[in-house]
Amino acid sequence: DWTSGSVIEETVEQIRSRIGSERVLCALSGGVDSAVAALLIHRAVGDQLTCVFVDTGCLRAGEREQVVETFSGHLHIPLVVVDAKRRFLARLADVVDPEQKRKIIGEEFIRVFEEEAERLAEQKGPIAFLAQGTLYPDVIESTSHDTASTAKRIKTHHNVGGLPEDIKFKLVEPLRTLFKDEVREIGQALGLPEEWVWRHPFPGPGLAIRVIGPVDEGRLDVLRAADKVVIEEIRKAGIYRELGQAFAVLTPIQSVGVMGDGRTYANVVAVRAVTTGDFMTADWARLSPDLLARISHRLVNEVPGVNRVVYDITSKPPATIEWE
Ligand code: XMP
Repeated sequence: DWTSGSVIEETVEQIRSRIGSERVLCALSGGVDSAVAALLIHRAVGDQLTCVFVDTGCLRAGEREQVVETFSGHLHIPLVVVDAKRRFLARLADVVDPEQKRKIIGEEFIRVFEEEAERLAEQKGPIAFLAQGTLYPDVIESTSHDTASTAKRIKTHHNVGGLPEDIKFKLVEPLRTLFKDEVREIGQALGLPEEWVWRHPFPGPGLAIRVIGPVDEGRLDVLRAADKVVIEEIRKAGIYRELGQAFAVLTPIQSVGVMGDGRTYANVVAVRAVTTGDFMTADWARLSPDLLARISHRLVNEVPGVNRVVYDITSKPPATIEWE
């Protein structure tokens, strides 16, 4: 039977014998999978591991700070944060097509990561391994041709850390035999904060595919503030874990409003919350009217540039979870 303790021991032993005395890099995405992969590897080979976190400028409020606090502060795992905001935003300027956004972010991520790997190799010696948080369902998916995997390919999913095949590293994938719930359990056992263990998935391209239309720093700031409100209220209502995902989307639609004595002309924010098992299908969450009212009230009052809020009541299919 499955116990996290024995799985951890076994996995750590396997990692140790594979890596030996070589160095390993692990790209952290902020999600649970890459975090648990890093924790297992750190337990196996200690500071032969360096984690890399790329700030794409498309992260949620507080995300970068949380990564630093948890990995450097709390877990004492060597971490390099690369501030690549400017590069990403420059390449995203005026790009509207969602697939184009994904492609640009995926490419730029690989470039930044490779440059950082080279820098680290020059500094502290060669790096032989790259860690990936590939789960068992991902392994199955990439070898099967069923309708589910076809459906998933409707969007090219660039996972942060999803690197090209001609990469010069050997791969170490400690989660290859595990399911998500097992990964969460291991994360908990290894001291990953509760909040991380249960974090909703967040797409690799980040907020760039939740700003509908062109992406720039101003729009990202508006969305980041809106997203923070949505998540805060959902947590306060005690339903975060019941939901598969919940977030805000910044639409390019402007609508007329009235505030105080004045007329406003500002953006419409959409709120999306879904329940789902496997993210292949999803239902819109029946959030309570009171919760929706609190979210709407706060968004309009606290987030400059937003004067109207709509709630997305479409299931997947026919819609997808994300808007882009
Ligand atoms: P959709 O919108 O296709 O999303 O219903 C299903 C799940 O995948 C996530 N998603 C992505 N994840 N890179 C990722 O790493 C992407 O480009 C991407 N697009 C969507 C989405 O957040 C949901 O969890």
